[in-house]
Order: sequence, then C-alpha cells, then structure tokens
Amino acid sequence: MGPLQIKEILQATPENQPITLKGWVRTKRESKNAIFIALNDGSTIHNIQAVAEPGQFSDELMQSVTTGSCLKIDGQLVESQGSGQVVEVKVNAIEVYGTADPEVYPLQPKKHSLEFLREIAHLRPRTNTFSAILRIRHALAFAVHQYFNDKGFFYLHTPVITASDAEGAGEMFRVTTLDLNKLPRTEEGAINFKEDFFGRETNLTVSGQLEGELGAMALSKIYTFGPTFRAENSNTTRHLAEFWMIEPEMAFFELEDNMDLAEDFVKKVITYALINCKDDLNFLQNRLADEEKSKPQNERSLPLLEKLSFVVDNPFERLTYTEAIDILLKSKPHKEKKFQYQVGWGIDLSSEHERYLVEKHFKKPVILTNYPREIKSFYMKLDEDGKTVRAMDVLFPGIGEIIGGSQREENYEKLLGRVNEVGIDPQNLWWYLETRQFGTAPHSGFGLGFERLVQFVTGMGNIRDVIPFPRYPKSAEF
Ligand code: 4AD
Ligand code: MG
Repeated sequence: MGPLQIKEILQATPENQPITLKGWVRTKRESKNAIFIALNDGSTIHNIQAVAEPGQFSDELMQSVTTGSCLKIDGQLVESQGSGQVVEVKVNAIEVYGTADPEVYPLQPKKHSLEFLREIAHLRPRTNTFSAILRIRHALAFAVHQYFNDKGFFYLHTPVITASDAEGAGEMFRVTTLDLNKLPRTEEGAINFKEDFFGRETNLTVSGQLEGELGAMALSKIYTFGPTFRAENSNTTRHLAEFWMIEPEMAFFELEDNMDLAEDFVKKVITYALINCKDDLNFLQNRLADEEKSKPQNERSLPLLEKLSFVVDNPFERLTYTEAIDILLKSKPHKEKKFQYQVGWGIDLSSEHERYLVEKHFKKPVILTNYPREIKSFYMKLDEDGKTVRAMDVLFPGIGEIIGGSQREENYEKLLGRVNEVGIDPQNLWWYLETRQFGTAPHSGFGLGFERLVQFVTGMGNIRDVIPFPRYPKSAEF
C-alpha cells in the first residue's frame, strides 16, 4: 500500500536492494565527485541522502532539482560512505514531480522567522520545526484517545452548532443563513430568527461540556475532543479563536477525583510524547537552546526534555484560591507594586499572578481550587460557605491556565438559582436543568486546551505556531 516511508527506509538494513523514494528536496549539494540530495517526506525529522554522480543526468534535469521540488528517485539502498547517516541511496533514476523555482519559492535552506512562516502557513509544514510540531500534535491527540479508552471513557461527539452559551461569557460566533442585507423583522422591528435555518439564534460552540454532562448522566464516563470557538478579541500568545478542547465528564467524581484525573491525564500524555517523539523533541530542544543563547545564563529555562520530565515526575501543588491570594499579598512584586493588576480576594487572577505562583513561588504546576463564585461559571457546585465554588484550574509554567474544570452543581434548586442570577433564560437550558430533576448525581469534569498542551510539550512561545492553520482576529487566510 503506497510507497515505503523515508522513516521506514532509514531503518532498513542496506543490502544494495532497489528502493524508491518520494519526497521533497530539502537541500542539494554538489562536490567534485558527487551530488547529494537530501529528501524528506514528513514521516520523520530526518532526511534521506540520495547520491548521484556528476554528469549522470542532464543539466536540465539537475537544474530542476532544487529546494522544495518534489521527486521520485529510484536507486539502491547502500551503507552510507559519509558520516551523519547510516544508509543512503545510490541514485539510478530521477523523476521530477514538481519544480519549485528558487527565484520565488519562499522556503530556502536558512532560518526563517516564525512570523514570516505564519504568513506562509500553506508551506510551513515543510520546515523541520513545523513538521516536528505537527507530528507531536498528532502523537498527543492519539495519546488522549488511548488514555481515555484505557480508562473506560466513551468518546462522545457533542454538537458544533448550539443555541446555548455554555460558558455564559458571550463570546460566540453566530451561525446563520439569513441574508444580512435583507434581515427579516418582527412586528417590533427586531430580527426575526424564527426565519433562520434552525428557527432560532445559533452559534458555534464554546464548549461541549453541557452536552457532555448529558452523556455522563448515562454512560458515567465520557470525553469530548473537538473544535471550540471563542470570539474573544485577545491578541495574546495563548488565545485562538478556534481551538481544540478535550472535555472529560464523569458521574460520581468529586473535586478530588477530578484533580487526580486531570493530573494523571496530563502526565500520561506528556509521557507518551517523551517515549514516542524523541527525535522531534530533541530537534525542538536544540532549536530552543539556540534561541536562548542570546539570554543571560540565569534567565535561561530548563532544556525542553528536562522540563517535561520534571512535570511528569513531580506532584502538582494543590491549594485554594484563598491561599493563593494570601501568597500573592505577601509576595515581593505585590509589596513593591510590580504587578500591573491589583491583588485582593475576589479578583480574577491575571496571567502575571498565575505565573508568579507557578514559576516563582512553587516552581511547578499548580492546581488552584475553590474560586469565588462571582468569577466562575454558573454550573459549578457551590461550596458550603456559599461564597466559593468547587472549581479547579491547572496552571502550567510558561503557559498559565492549561485546564479549567469543576465539580458540577447537581442540586436543581441551587442550579436554577445560579442560572437566574447570571441572567440566563432557564427556558434555553431546560434540557440541562432536567438532568438535575431526573436521577441527578454528583459529577465533575474539566477542559484541557489542546493547543496549550501542544505549546507546553513543544516549548513554542506562540499558540499560533502549534495548530496548522490558526484562527485569530483578522486572520482566516488558509
Ligand atoms: O476554562 P475554560 O473556559 O473551561 C471550559 O470551557 C469548561 N466548559 C471546561 C469543562 O469544565 N468541561 O476552558 C478550558 C481550557 C482552558 O483552560 C484553556 O486551556 C483552553 O480551554 N482555552 C483556550 N485555548 C486557546 N484559545 C482560547 N481562546 C482558549 N480559551 C480557553
Ligand atoms: Mg478557565
């Protein structure tokens, strides 16, 4: 089925056997006695070296073998004469599938800035950096499914188009088939959504959680893994308008169980990458080390693999929001008025506060719990004191919040009270509320931002560089 991948060929024993390579030229180098073509097909970070003799092929053919061109090479797999690779291919025939005029082909064998590569997102998967990221992203996605499958969870497909705002944050993209130039009106002059496709207002989902809970109330343990959409106008290195979220939801799990699962889950998927993506992680580690050379010694961060192993090997620090506020109030940057945002009980922690706790104070991942009810979503279970909710956020070094979750309010009256309090029309959520009337149960869940995980594992500074085609304000080109 299809040609052998370069990854497989590189592992084969060289016995002069005939071999066919298909891939894109990374570099071509000519010496007096040989022409070296480094070919890559994306199956691995490593190129295979094909060696031709000068004069073996017409000048015309060899001139079309340039960086970025796509070739089929027939040859023989032999032991490599040079250092740097075990095997190489002695070329017998070359077919050029597609040329890439070096005058205009933007990817040349030199360092390109990540900003520039973002402008050519259609080609950047052909670079070492992005192919490594995309392979790691794949491995992490696979590990997510494997982890939950092994733990008896069922993958539930929740809808992408919804009529509810799960997070109540009002950051939704509208879905409509109405003609924006000829909007139907009600007698009162408002837009008449009864005439819209679904007969009501609909949006792209911000979270699959609410439907996920319906699944958990029948299958006990489910997870979702799908695209979510948020129209928040945040031009940060941590936000996308379209991102992938993994949301497990478990009946009979309390907050403690939820934290245990979240910690075990991230550790296991990171371990999977450490075992299965060694070459790509090594490549990215070296890339980062190069970047860090310009920084003074004491500002350099741990090498990537050490950082990942550290997170896998050490227990996360667990504390309440109230305890975290106390630490912040006693902190040096607070006393010296170095924080941009005020600290005090009731504030929504900003990323400078989260990063202080994780990177300066504890120096490891932190799970914060029991946040003030006012700053968290309506569905979180109220604590006994009525002031805080059973929320949990997992904070990671360099990333900030990577997971947000909670135990859910399973009491009908209390939940209805919160729905009204935050100004949601209970009629829009009748089906969600009914789960609390028919066989309600204690349950919990969380959401892991998949790109933030990929960012952490790859060490990339900008979330736009860990998804193939990022969506952010004023950008939906590819
Ligand atoms: O904390 P959030 O908003 O929680 C929820 O959506 C819950 N319904 C999850 C649940 O309990 N089932 O989002 C969860 C995670 C965040 O911790 C963050 O990692 C990621 O989703 N996230 C984003 N990632 C990229 N771009 C954005 N704009 C993101 N917003 C949230
Ligand atoms: Mg959150």
